[in-house]
Amino acid sequence: MRTCEGLFQIDGQNLANDNLLFRSTTGSISIKIHPQESRAQNIRMSNIPEQELLPTTASVSEDDRLSIGGCDVRDLVEEFGSPLYVYDEQTLRGMCRDFVSSFTSEYPRTRIEYSSKAFANPTVAKIIDEEGLYMDIVTGGELAVAIAANFPAERLNFHGNNKGREELVEAVNYGIDSITIDSFAEIDLLSEVAVEQGVRQKVMLRLSPSIDPHTHMLTSTGILDSKFGFSIETGDAETAVEQALAKDSLEVEGLHFHLGSPIFELEPYSEAIDYVLQFAANMRDKYGLVLKRFSPGGGFAIGYVADTLPPSMGEYAKEIATAIRSGCDRYGLDEPELTVEPGRAIVGRAGIAVYTVGGVKTIPGVRTYVSVDGGMGDNIRPALYGARYAVVPVDRPTAPRTRTVTVVGKFCESGDFLARDVDLPEPETGELLALPASGAYCLMMASNYNMQTRPAVVLVNNGKARLMRRRETYSDLLAGTLNLD
Ligand code: LLP
Repeated sequence: MRTCEGLFQIDGQNLANDNLLFRSTTGSISIKIHPQESRAQNIRMSNIPEQELLPTTASVSEDDRLSIGGCDVRDLVEEFGSPLYVYDEQTLRGMCRDFVSSFTSEYPRTRIEYSSKAFANPTVAKIIDEEGLYMDIVTGGELAVAIAANFPAERLNFHGNNKGREELVEAVNYGIDSITIDSFAEIDLLSEVAVEQGVRQKVMLRLSPSIDPHTHMLTSTGILDSKFGFSIETGDAETAVEQALAKDSLEVEGLHFHLGSPIFELEPYSEAIDYVLQFAANMRDKYGLVLKRFSPGGGFAIGYVADTLPPSMGEYAKEIATAIRSGCDRYGLDEPELTVEPGRAIVGRAGIAVYTVGGVKTIPGVRTYVSVDGGMGDNIRPALYGARYAVVPVDRPTAPRTRTVTVVGKFCESGDFLARDVDLPEPETGELLALPASGAYCLMMASNYNMQTRPAVVLVNNGKARLMRRRETYSDLLAGTLNLD
């Protein structure tokens, strides 16, 4: 490796922690610019165990405070209130680019399709568009977000196991590229809608390959006992291929499966890919199915806690590309275009949640509860899946972690916890705690339980913070209610 030190600027702006990509007609090189204050900051960052979990621009100042995207986190809370979700634009864009380069270097004809259920927001959708990614939606609401961002219809795909007629009509009217069919009812419904709209709709068929990805039961989707997908094992998948191919208004582009999420192992992907490609070859022989496109879904894991880190993107890409190539070779198929659908791995690391500590209660010999001003209303994952999170003391990230505590929320449930048995400095009322890796599936699964308002969300970049979603108000909570006599 060659190094070059100095101050780098574009349009008068200092570059720090940027990923630059230079393209020419003969190839491209990517360059990572490290922060200028970097050496001292890197040493301070390496003193905190959550370094790999936080956004890539996270740094610790000389006076031991956490900053993200060049913004001091305490200053952000003073400006935008608490709890606060902070998304780092550079991490988000960096993940998009890493996905594109990791996959296209292994398998050039790959579409990276951001699964917007992980975090659907027009600003994020615009960034996804600018990065040239595709995007998937699962409801009319997520379509509305895509439309609000002016997201190109030709890079949208519609998933979901029970899409309604109205949702399908809206999607077809918007000119959506493809729709992934997930039930026999939908084969009929969508073909009717396509006939009414006078289009031949491109579709994928969602299959269930009966393969266990060894993740939480509630987020496993490719096993036999699942509401998702046509099962290959029961024969439904074959019937679905036959029925869909018989509809003139549907153009069957290919096959899809999604095993679950998050998947920390590589083998379930290759096992399922082989099985589905074998099925595709059977369907070619029996019904003339042409597999133009193939999708092994998403599910790529991220680090939530420092002791459980996932495979790298490159490893996922290699496993998937190798399995497709060898499967196609084995079953005599032409290599299809590949679509992968990361949600969590695109936005998860980019976002942190920041809370303020209220009460601290110690039950001697039992546990210390540290209560914060959010909880299961903005992040139900610990309560629902037993998900583990790390906790960073924002005002003193490198201080010795001398106390084991349980961080709980403010909701009226004993199951309202955010992080059990985490080590922190002696907790203090008023201090800020950050949960890294909170960018995916936290706010999207948020509720107004206890009539609690949802937090504000800011996007940070190069020292600037912009509101992406304002904090909810009591008027928002009451807006839909009717005060009957
Ligand atoms: N494709 C399909 C068809 C999916 O159903 C999903 C996620 C994805 C892609 C994206 O998966 P990802 O890359 O984000 O893992 N609420 C759960 C996650 C549910 C995921 C549902 N489907 C959680 O908080 O862990």
